[in-house]
Amino acid sequence: MNVLVVGKGGREHALVWKLAQSQRIDKLYVAPGNPGMASLAECVDIRVDTPVAKREKLAGEIDRLVAFAQEQQIGLTVVGPDDALAGGIVDRFRASGLAIFGPTEAAARIESSKVFAKELMERVGVPTARHQSFTDSQTACAYIREQGAPIVVKASGLAAGKGAVVCHSVDQALAAAHDMLDEGTLGGAGHHIVVEEYMVGEEASLFAICDGEHFITLTPAQDHKPIYDGDKGPNTGGMGAYAPAPVMTPALVREAEERIIRPVLDEMRRLGTPYQGVLYCGLMCTEAGVKVVEFNARFGDPECQILMPLLKTDLVDLLTAACDGLLDQVQVECAPDAAVCVILASDGYPQAYEKGFEIRGLEAFADRDDLVVFHAGTAQRNGRVITDGGRVLCVTATDADLQAAVAKAYSAVDQIAFDNAYCRRDIAYRALGRA
Ligand code: AMP
Ligand code: GLY
Repeated sequence: MNVLVVGKGGREHALVWKLAQSQRIDKLYVAPGNPGMASLAECVDIRVDTPVAKREKLAGEIDRLVAFAQEQQIGLTVVGPDDALAGGIVDRFRASGLAIFGPTEAAARIESSKVFAKELMERVGVPTARHQSFTDSQTACAYIREQGAPIVVKASGLAAGKGAVVCHSVDQALAAAHDMLDEGTLGGAGHHIVVEEYMVGEEASLFAICDGEHFITLTPAQDHKPIYDGDKGPNTGGMGAYAPAPVMTPALVREAEERIIRPVLDEMRRLGTPYQGVLYCGLMCTEAGVKVVEFNARFGDPECQILMPLLKTDLVDLLTAACDGLLDQVQVECAPDAAVCVILASDGYPQAYEKGFEIRGLEAFADRDDLVVFHAGTAQRNGRVITDGGRVLCVTATDADLQAAVAKAYSAVDQIAFDNAYCRRDIAYRALGRA
């Protein structure tokens, strides 16, 4: 089978790496990919990476990719990024008779509209933060004053990770609501906002592969969004991740499956928009049980980079079964090992940073299965790999236990060098602190 992966970051490199191990692949393509993937797949220069706000441009990119998939007789397409899903890439591929793994535009609203997700959860009693939604800043501000701080203000739409503001004072929350609703700082994404209760607890990410009716959960993970050690500083796309996350005990995973994933899938079917794809459950483990922070309609980045090395099942088998509604007939096996990913970033990220620096030391890891360096933001210049983004590399190690995996990942980090490199030094500290 010919298989196509859509995207260019560390998440997509991990998907390509795992798919390339399948016996069922004839030819593997990635659009557009990056230099790290070039030895595993043919990189195709078609980009589907315009934000969903620019609908027409995004639709044009999707059309070009549909034409490519038809020409190359692609039997399965796997979508990484959220904007492509919210822009209807799955609907367009299916309308052209092409099999694709991911939710339709309507189903992807679980991520692209927080108002939709909150209303759905409320309707079917999924545990989540108490909330109200607003389009008008005066009523939003009145609600914020009445509730007090801490409180969370969120843009309803996709905002590239900048849409949630955790506010420790009423003034900060009033300013966030004003900025989104009156000043339009997040564009259309912030014209409708959700104001919600601040939840106390430890976060975890649980991924369900869904076929519209059945689902299978992968090893529970935890990512580290803030830029500095100790979870300080502004949020990023994710500075590292590990799995399994001990906070998500088997009992909590079962609770999440029964009280969150099952009712959401049933409700999506009832709405006539069955959910096929990855349901990313961002969870808070509170004293009152596990609650939803948010849903995403895709794999997490960098969580995908640790889950693919732990997954023993053939990914083509798994995803084609999901496309065919046959997940109840698949046995999924995840290794009982631990995996950790440390992100090597450009100093300055998530604000301004320089790029174009040569990366040295990558050769040492070319042939290892237990230590893989996934590329996130890299490019090639004169035959050398250079930095080309905020998050540059995802150094991923697996081992029998978490401590060994962490030590292995950091020893690899210390052998890779580029100017202005930055990483967190405490990935997995919550789990290691428990041990
Ligand atoms: P989101 O974009 O909804 O995932 O939010 C980004 C981050 O903000 C989450 O990973 C949490 O750390 C934090 N956050 C969001 N909502 C809440 C909440 N209701 N209570 C506490 N923290 C939250
Ligand atoms: N790891 C956070 C995300 O993918 O949104």
